[in-house]
Amino acid sequence: MDRYVVIGNPVAHSLSPRIHAHFAHALGESIEYAPLLVPEGAFASYARRFFEQGGAGANVTLPFKVDAFDWAQARSERAVLAEAANFLVARGGRVEADNTDGAGLVADLTRNLGITLEGQRVLILGAGGATRGALGPLLALAPRSVTIANRTLSRAQELCDRFATHGRVHAAALERIPDERFDLVINATSSGTKGEPLALPAHVFAAGFAYDMAYGEGARAFVAQARAAGARASDGLGMLVEQAAESYFLWRGRRPETRAILAQLRGEPT
Ligand code: ATR
Repeated sequence: MDRYVVIGNPVAHSLSPRIHAHFAHALGESIEYAPLLVPEGAFASYARRFFEQGGAGANVTLPFKVDAFDWAQARSERAVLAEAANFLVARGGRVEADNTDGAGLVADLTRNLGITLEGQRVLILGAGGATRGALGPLLALAPRSVTIANRTLSRAQELCDRFATHGRVHAAALERIPDERFDLVINATSSGTKGEPLALPAHVFAAGFAYDMAYGEGARAFVAQARAAGARASDGLGMLVEQAAESYFLWRGRRPETRAILAQLRGEPT
């Protein structure tokens, strides 16, 4: 039976084993998919052992996405753009890295939530790893512009320089977000997960859709703030499920259906 793991720290809370078990069951396949808790600083030794013992593939979550990218023997173009990997696969005697997070985000926005990105004004909050992973796939859908607003302006500017050839990207300081109408606001900061409030001017939510890449408790404050300002809003649970589906497809060549497991995880009747 093909063996997969999700590598993280902490990792016990991860929904990925449940999502992949659902995919395999729905497709009539047998796989093993388990959490693998790795001590900080020990990514390489654990990953090497897993693949040496015949592991087929791994998802990688915080705080190891950069370690996974550095450690792999080959990297996809989108992993290179993100400078991080959430996906590893053993192929042809080596381990290859990819990044399915941005594809997961775009799939959730466009397929599950019915949002069109082409020609739209997008505001993305944060300039860390989550933003880096999202920018390539977002810009590939030809939005009119993407404004990256970050607490530390220089990090937003660095990302703008890096992605300038991929589309129209602007940088702004978080407390000086341009007073314009955004169609889509994406929270890619870690503020919610850390329980820190994100002070945002109300105009940010004026007419658009608000999306938090976190889910559950980590997304609650942002989603509530957006709804209070009259915006439609969603957390990032669908992104999690869609990046998993993309991973499953890359590993096994079959694309799982995501609607039922997403509804299940949201506690909705299927
Ligand atoms: P990740 O890989 O999750 O993106 P990261 O690379 O540490 O993690 O980036 C976290 C992002 O959240 C950064 O953009 C950070 O802003 P700074 O670059 O100024 O540090 C942002 N962030 C974290 N806590 C925040 C807070 N309380 N308010 C605003 N932005 C915050």
